[in-house]
Amino acid sequence: MEFIQTKEALASLLSSFKKSDSLGLVPTMGALHQGHMALVKKALSENDAVIVSIFVNPTQFNNKEDLEKYPQTIAADMALLKEVSKEICVFAPTVEEIYAEKVETKRYDFEGLDKVMEGAFRDDHFNGVGTIVEALLRLVKPDSAYFGEKDFQQLQIIKKLVALEKIPVQVIGCPIVREPSGLAMSSRNERLSKAMRQEAAFIYKTLRIAKNKFSTQSAQKVITWIENQFEKRSDLVLEYIAITDTDTLTPVLQKDKNLKYRAFVAVYTENIRLIDNIALN
Ligand code: PAF
Repeated sequence: MEFIQTKEALASLLSSFKKSDSLGLVPTMGALHQGHMALVKKALSENDAVIVSIFVNPTQFNNKEDLEKYPQTIAADMALLKEVSKEICVFAPTVEEIYAEKVETKRYDFEGLDKVMEGAFRDDHFNGVGTIVEALLRLVKPDSAYFGEKDFQQLQIIKKLVALEKIPVQVIGCPIVREPSGLAMSSRNERLSKAMRQEAAFIYKTLRIAKNKFSTQSAQKVITWIENQFEKRSDLVLEYIAITDTDTLTPVLQKDKNLKYRAFVAVYTENIRLIDNIALN
């Protein structure tokens, strides 16, 4: 398995591929789990070559402590990738390699997609995501790039980014992978206590019931019901609940049967922030 850390080594690797080879990129921040592996497997099944990038991107963390605590598990990550395929190339640059001396965030006009939900609670987060994803796409020049639907807002913003910046890549979203309890897989789950890792399954259970209710009730009624469920739980603090149009991420005022909707939540527990979402129709 190739492991490279510099842009120069990356350029040389890319020049060793045949022109006709299709290339898939799976951008990650490491601490890989089965959710990432699903992206990697899909990329492998659809491309001749696959690069997995591992880079904890400082510009997308609005909370210094979250950045410092972000798990860095490169040896375990490599072992997990090797189990899937020895053909994968890993690109794991340093912060200096990507940002040179100045860690700077580029500003984008995501046409409001970045102002709601995660964007409203994490200042500048999506400009940071855009900055690194644009840099990686320009360096790797993949035909396709793979992102998980757990970060559904991020996925929509990356689709907007490639349209705005005219980057020739197919952005592919992949379904959320869940733990047996239903909890959405996340690198942050590792930081939960054993008991809370089970208890947090409440988030997805609530979303599933909400989905049922949404078939007969208004968005506002379903939102109120979800808020009430979380009010009964002192251990799971709801930061936000939103029901939005899937494409524009604008809140649903009046249901339109021709549109697709999704519910999104962010929940705090044990000082860890968990997010999840579900397609409602
Ligand atoms: O989803 C993530 O892990 C990150 O936001 C990404 C897309 C790798 C950019 O750093």
